[in-house]
Amino acid sequence: APADEPASFRAILVEDGRVEPRDEMPEGYRKTLVRQIAQHAHSEIIGMQPEGNWVSRAPSLRRKAILMAKVQDEAGHGLYLYAAAETLGVDRADLLDALHSGRQKYSSIFNYPTLTWADVGAIGWLVDGAAIVNQVPLCRCSYGPYARAMVRVCKEESFHQRQGFEILHTLAHGSQAQRQMAQDAVNRYWWPSLMMFGPPDDDSPNSAQSMAWGIKRFSNDDLRQRFIDMTVPQSEALGLTLPDDGLAWNEERGHYDFTPVDFTELFEVIRGNGPCNEQRMAHRVGAHEDGAWAREAAAAYAQKQAQKQAQ
Ligand code: ACO
Repeated sequence: APADEPASFRAILVEDGRVEPRDEMPEGYRKTLVRQIAQHAHSEIIGMQPEGNWVSRAPSLRRKAILMAKVQDEAGHGLYLYAAAETLGVDRADLLDALHSGRQKYSSIFNYPTLTWADVGAIGWLVDGAAIVNQVPLCRCSYGPYARAMVRVCKEESFHQRQGFEILHTLAHGSQAQRQMAQDAVNRYWWPSLMMFGPPDDDSPNSAQSMAWGIKRFSNDDLRQRFIDMTVPQSEALGLTLPDDGLAWNEERGHYDFTPVDFTELFEVIRGNGPCNEQRMAHRVGAHEDGAWAREAAAAYAQKQAQKQAQ
């Protein structure tokens, strides 16, 4: 255990309790949570872009209304998560600065383009599906505010996942061209979705400590396997294939075998060299600058209200 670990903190972990903002905690624990929660929040708001790209081109009014609600949910997730990070003594404005200057990361998956309407389905089914597998265990994370934020996020993600599945199911049972569009989207999003779980366990510098602190409950590889096991039968229900000839049920392991993931692609995307990194960051920074007047107005209003109350 780190030298600065208070006995009261260890006692909470041993009892599988929740660490709350006012509890004493080691500095490393606090920093790890800020890093992960901030990255998670950034992912939620950057994640609005690939799907937002299709709001104006959704194929029907109904699809458009659903997609708009979904993209707004992602903004809401970002807000709960920034609020959870702020309980650790950081400021949201500083976290956004860290994102905009490249000092903090966001999920690799949002650096891929959404080329067709079927990509909106593939993101819902695969990306939100992977997010749920990663985030359900975070509902039991040792840090209370993060764990509680995850409960609602996971409920909403489940709805998103079903909505993506339904888009793909409709396309897969439509015309030949629609079927092909759905298959192409799944082919492009499958491997990047597996990369969302992070590097393999033996190349994951933060895992051991995060597991010891009860922040992570399962390893990157275990969650990746769980996602694959869950998704293969769903692909069969959709009538679509997953782009991996190595997928096969392994009776002995009780899991699907699969071809090893090419993690050089993940590291390249994290380094900033994915297909859309520049575009995503430019759009985010632009949106932040365009919103300066709204932040200033809100701050001025808050100040006025505070003055009124003081009088
Ligand atoms: N995209 C971008 N960066 C990643 C990814 C990824 N898919 N996977 C790992 N990394 C980064 C880590 O952040 C870490 O970098 P850092 O030390 O500079 O922060 C580095 O690669 C090494 O990885 P790990 O040691 O495995 O890092 P960690 O223990 O934090 O595990 C994981 C990574 C699994 C993503 C974890 O942080 C997590 O569960 N985060 C919460 C979930 C989340 O952020 N989801 C966002 C996408 S889902 C959505 O928004 C719909």
